[in-house]
Amino acid sequence: MTTTDSPPVEVHLTPSDLAAALAHDVRVGLTSDPKWLPAKWLYDEHGCELFEAITELPEYYPTRAERAVLQAHAGEIAAEAPATTLIELGSGTSEKTRLLIAALEAGGSLQRFVAFDVAEPTLRAAVSELSSAHERLAIEGVVGDFERHLDRLPKGPDRMVAFLGGTLGNFDEPNRLRFFSTMASALEPGEWILLGTDLVKDPERLLAAYDDASGVTAAFETNVLAVINHELGADFDLDRFDYVARWNANLERIEMGVRSNGPQSVHIPALDMKLELADGEEISTEVSAKFRRVGVSRELAAHGFDLVGWWTDPRGEFAVSCARRTTMSDSVAQ
Ligand code: SAH
Ligand code: TRP
Repeated sequence: MTTTDSPPVEVHLTPSDLAAALAHDVRVGLTSDPKWLPAKWLYDEHGCELFEAITELPEYYPTRAERAVLQAHAGEIAAEAPATTLIELGSGTSEKTRLLIAALEAGGSLQRFVAFDVAEPTLRAAVSELSSAHERLAIEGVVGDFERHLDRLPKGPDRMVAFLGGTLGNFDEPNRLRFFSTMASALEPGEWILLGTDLVKDPERLLAAYDDASGVTAAFETNVLAVINHELGADFDLDRFDYVARWNANLERIEMGVRSNGPQSVHIPALDMKLELADGEEISTEVSAKFRRVGVSRELAAHGFDLVGWWTDPRGEFAVSCARRTTMSDSVAQ
């Protein structure tokens, strides 16, 4: 395929926007107590490769479970929600999404697919591959941040916004509710949102999925420090950090981070910042919330969405749910 065949990609985040946003987030996060870093910075090219490796780990069941749901039920989803435009947020490789695209095409409704992701190289590769596989579909890419650019979603009518892979769980609760309220304003009555959510289950199984024996997840989460070294000239010594993942039973979420192995200081020249870390001090890198049907349905309802479908894999580990923007805007509670 030649480059002239590449689908159009709209860039809301240029490399210099990204550099400025990273500098801001690192300054805010690493001067907070406790320290934290936003998850979106995990996905440089190496991070995207490590993430792909995670999805193939024996312990990491969510990707396989979500694929099983889509394999079994994409036709029902397409019948429930005959969208003409499918927009996927945090699309990554859009690998599982192909099942949904195929079902919506077979149902005769789909005309356009828009992939939206912060990781430009991965996004470009995904839309190029998709456009050669689906010649009758209009395929587009948007490089953007789904925490900042949802007001710039492509226009409808009859859009479905898919948010798969359990990425909704990577928001903390306030940001998740903010996401729902932004989606409620972005979508017209009758349009759909399709969510892939990992479900609450035995903590042992969850912890294995987020702290695999071969250390791929540890490498993925620690990679954020390499991103800061690379982009901001910092001198994080990755060997002096241990990966930590724990289950927070109250908040029903996995909490991931890196822990300083010994006291150490780190320089971040681009921010003119010197960071002191105590022995055992943690930097939170990500949460992965786990869901229950009642909670998903309640949060959607509070933001003006009716749950119209809920499908799980045979083991009941992961759910794909479909919700429709209601016509009564006064039902929006937030
Ligand atoms: N949907 C895919 C990938 C999930 S990983 C799957 O199910 O396998 C999360 C994806 O979201 C990554 O591709 C990452 O680059 C993207 N992402 C993370 N934070 C983002 C943000 N703030 N805005 C846009 N994309 C983001
Ligand atoms: N959103 C997915 C999840 O929470 C994928 C993911 C993001 C992930 N960060 C991760 C998986 C870290 C394993 C480890 O499961």
